[in-house]
Amino acid sequence: MDDNLLTVKNLSVHYKIRNGWVYAVDDVNFTLKRGETMGLVGESGCGKTTTGYAVTQLLADNAYLKSNSKVVFDGTDLIKIGTYPSKQYKGYRKIDEYNPKMRSYRWKRISMIFQGAMNAFNPVYTVGDQIKEAILQHEELTDEEVRKRIEMLFDLVGIPKDRIDNYPHEYSGGMKQRAMIAMSLALSPDLIIADEPTTALDVVTQDRILGKISELQRRENVAMILITHDVSVVAEMAEKMAVMYAGHLVEKGTAREIFKETAHPYTEALLKAFPSIKGEKKRLRSIPGSPPDLANPPKGCRFAPRCPYAKDICLEKEPPVVEISPGHLSKCHFAEELYGELSGGE
Ligand SMILES: Nc1ncnc2c1ncn2[C@@H]1O[C@H](COP(=O)(O)OP(=O)(O)OP(=O)(O)O)[C@@H](O)[C@H]1O
Ligand SMILES: [Mg+2]
Repeated sequence: MDDNLLTVKNLSVHYKIRNGWVYAVDDVNFTLKRGETMGLVGESGCGKTTTGYAVTQLLADNAYLKSNSKVVFDGTDLIKIGTYPSKQYKGYRKIDEYNPKMRSYRWKRISMIFQGAMNAFNPVYTVGDQIKEAILQHEELTDEEVRKRIEMLFDLVGIPKDRIDNYPHEYSGGMKQRAMIAMSLALSPDLIIADEPTTALDVVTQDRILGKISELQRRENVAMILITHDVSVVAEMAEKMAVMYAGHLVEKGTAREIFKETAHPYTEALLKAFPSIKGEKKRLRSIPGSPPDLANPPKGCRFAPRCPYAKDICLEKEPPVVEISPGHLSKCHFAEELYGELSGGE
């Protein structure tokens, strides 16, 4: 038995479109221990949300999971319980959205902070009622106890108590986002999947809320997958880090390793595109070119067409995953040669 809370293995999620497939996530592997935070970073469209939501199987209706994909949470393969049997779909499993077993995990054991919290609340109910309903689905509490809990949560995220009975349209964007964070914490989950949790917030509020989330994580030993564009947020919050490019996980390791001992050319390019986390002034370099169309990904390394270090083999053959040091992996033909040569985030 391993002591991981979450093991994601060979995760492949493909979206069926009219004339083929979008290969959104291919063969993604990572693990998370209780209380641990993993930052999941990469450019827009690389598959971060798809990866995060494959864990709770809240994927779009046209999503299919390759049959060998595994999402083992606290000893149970969620893909097995959350999908119809694979045989109907030629090597794929299809999500059973209303599966009651899977429902017992959502919010209670694994909660989510949705990207674009703006639209996550139902406009016809008050925010308080929606959080209340989520709580009562899993716990038997009196009205008064629920109210107390919601007040405590609102206090935590800095929304005045007298806003509990407001409708979502009466909230600002940032307040909706904070209410979403409150909802994700309502049932003391073991794992939070936070998809761009603070993107709609100003920097000061962002810092404060991230601080609160960290504090709560430590207190209750909650693990988190932190999906973000913002590498500096990861540097602050996460001990582990995974970098995605065009549906592949190209590098993973401790945040320190990713920043200081960068072993993948894409990670180097991504870190260069962000301001230094120490705040030193340096020129930001955007990454030349654009990511490939995932309906028709290049056959070799998916980053090769944009990679300054690419050689012939990179365009021909998909790179293996190379273990640079225990737990530090890079999906690059030249990972070992480049390791030590690449400049990270410093
Ligand atoms: N329902 C769908 N049908 C077809 N393609 C989809 C669907 N949902 C997402 N995709 C495609 O899958 C790929 C991965 O999308 P995903 O939303 O996971 O990216 P992301 O990394 O979260 O991006 P962002 O940073 O913009 O949120 C993209 O190419 C996207 O266009
Ligand atoms: Mg996303």
